[in-house]
Amino acid sequence: MPTRLKPILKRNLPERDVLRLGDLANWRFEGTPLAVVGHPVKHSVSPEMHNAALEELADRNPGFKDWHYFKFDIEPERLREALALFYRNKFKGLNLTVPHKILAAKWIEAAEPEVRLSGACNTLLWTDNGYRGYNTDLYGMTRAIEESFALKLRGRQALLIGAGGAARAAAVACLTHKVGALHLTNRTREKLDPLVEEMAGIRDDIPIKIHQLAGPFAISSRHLIVINATSLGLKESDPAPVALKGLHPDTKVLDMIYNPSKTALLKEAESLGMRTANGLPMLVFQGERSFRIWTKKSPSVQTMFRAAVDSLAE
Ligand code: ATR
Repeated sequence: MPTRLKPILKRNLPERDVLRLGDLANWRFEGTPLAVVGHPVKHSVSPEMHNAALEELADRNPGFKDWHYFKFDIEPERLREALALFYRNKFKGLNLTVPHKILAAKWIEAAEPEVRLSGACNTLLWTDNGYRGYNTDLYGMTRAIEESFALKLRGRQALLIGAGGAARAAAVACLTHKVGALHLTNRTREKLDPLVEEMAGIRDDIPIKIHQLAGPFAISSRHLIVINATSLGLKESDPAPVALKGLHPDTKVLDMIYNPSKTALLKEAESLGMRTANGLPMLVFQGERSFRIWTKKSPSVQTMFRAAVDSLAE
């Protein structure tokens, strides 16, 4: 019965994989829509991850049978217009990805404190008064560290590489979870200095130290977590952004990049006997929290993880 019901309930599903602004003007999907919005967005695995979790949820709870998660490519200049159309068409939830997270944080009036602190918004929830903004990347990173390394951020030393949007969210997560000290490094000082200043304004009781990207890092702690939040590593041929030699072998290394699955940084960490994690658990956990915000139900993290891995392998 459920398999026969599905085509009826999922009526008017658009046929194309990546949708555009024009599709919103004449929106005919009759279920409850969710979507990821980015530019470019082709490579996002969020639709596979969320649709797999929605299908599983619908097996237990038929009220979710007509929910579907779409993928929209929207240029930044058209984002404002698109958000109004998403709202009018009752998109229950949106995920915002590159380059929209920072723009949306400026526009969304009703937002969780994590959005104001990080200056970035990756999740929107439809409410009677407009969209409400969240940043589930902070939760995603924290949970990924807890699950991958079986430890909490509290009291640890964190060495964060990068000063863009991803680094900012990671820095806020480190401070709100009360790391013992936050070590920051970036290719250029121009972007690093304002980040340091802003982070110092969030918590003045946690030491923030600046390091040269070239090292050496004078951090002798065995309770160190290194987090790569730069885009260096996205290309297979990219070198590691920092040299890990000299850091304690108990150091844990998280690279936010998940494709390729093993960056030069993670390879170097492994060769030094350090424990590592790529960005996939972070992606899945940010998705898990977004899913809970929209559906008020807990998805299976394993299902989301499997769907993301399968989709990346295609
Ligand atoms: P995001 O929002 O995803 O963080 P971003 O704001 O463009 O993206 O930031 C990219 C980060 O990767 C920056 O910290 C950038 O360093 P700069 O601030 O010096 O630009 C870093 N990055 C990009 N390419 C790099 C490279 N080849 N070597 C070292 N760092 C690099």
